[in-house]
Amino acid sequence: MKAIVYDRYGGPDVLDYREVPDPKLSQNSVLIRIKAAALNPADVALQAGLGDAHMPVWFPVIPGWDVAGVIETVGPGVKEFSPGDEVMSYVREEILHHGGYAELIAVPVYAVVRKPARASWEESAGLPLAGLTAYRAIVQTLAVTSQDVVLIHGASGGVGLLAAQLARNAGARVIGTAAASNHDVLRTFGVEPVEYGEGLVGRVRQIVPEGITAVLDCVGRGTLLATTAVNRANARVCSVADAGPGIVTVFARQDPDILRRLAQLMDEGTLRVIVAQVFPLHDAANAQRALSSRRRAGKIVLVP
Ligand SMILES: NC(=O)c1ccc[n+]([C@@H]2O[C@H](COP(=O)([O-])OP(=O)(O)OC[C@H]3O[C@@H](n4cnc5c(N)ncnc54)[C@H](OP(=O)(O)O)[C@@H]3O)[C@@H](O)[C@H]2O)c1
Repeated sequence: MKAIVYDRYGGPDVLDYREVPDPKLSQNSVLIRIKAAALNPADVALQAGLGDAHMPVWFPVIPGWDVAGVIETVGPGVKEFSPGDEVMSYVREEILHHGGYAELIAVPVYAVVRKPARASWEESAGLPLAGLTAYRAIVQTLAVTSQDVVLIHGASGGVGLLAAQLARNAGARVIGTAAASNHDVLRTFGVEPVEYGEGLVGRVRQIVPEGITAVLDCVGRGTLLATTAVNRANARVCSVADAGPGIVTVFARQDPDILRRLAQLMDEGTLRVIVAQVFPLHDAANAQRALSSRRRAGKIVLVP
């Protein structure tokens, strides 16, 4: 098959589009012919070597953790799926080696979920990691309700846009930070946009003088601690992009039940993945450059 691989750590320039052996299919896995694969900031960070201290790596690495596609074959132990089934998956393993920037991937059956029928391949590929993270933060960690005024730092990103919709679905008022060029997109989801950067605390205070009750940080870089002045007493606060003393960090987890729930919300029309840009698989380097210099709300997706 054709895939994007890297043989050493580095930026987009280390990516190579070439022929590699087809994945082997073990007994409880399915082989997926990939129709779309989404990018995530973690792809770029791990490729730069930032996970080297704790993440085993086996070069050459095929990056990418989000795929949607058609099942080509199933292992002998798999009864849940058949060839032809349309699925999606968060394909993260605890070793960096097999990823989604490819034509095919073998995935353990426990990580595979049927794709939302109403969503495109690109939208489906954009759901797993960002959706699992957003759900864990908004529903399971912050437990947002209609009583909340939620502040989402980075509301125009892959995680932030889904988190904002989950919070709005719970009936909360949602304030979201984003570049001015993305404010109209946020408004379409019922989110009140605020520009990030210097003066942010004052801008939030102006529209929510009574204070914020729940905060999700999708930006990091000290954003959470720098903006505590907008929080009401006893505000619930978490980050998916920062760690350290005083910060509750939320991590995505492979959870097919939650991914099925998110797919159901997409089919019901109460959750949407915005696709910012689509690149052909061989152009993954430019897709990563677009991710790192991002200005358009939503997910960046590769199509083999
Ligand atoms: N813990 C986990 O399991 C987990 C899972 C997924 C992601 N993450 C992390 O969560 C973060 C967000 O992920 P994502 O996929 O949503 O990324 P993304 O799609 O690239 O979105 C990044 C967001 O940050 C905003 N932003 C960019 N520069 C900013 C600045 N200088 N100040 C404030 N905001 C700025 C962007 O706004 P504009 O585009 O409007 O400028 C956008 O809303 C990343 O750090 C990622 O690594 C963690």
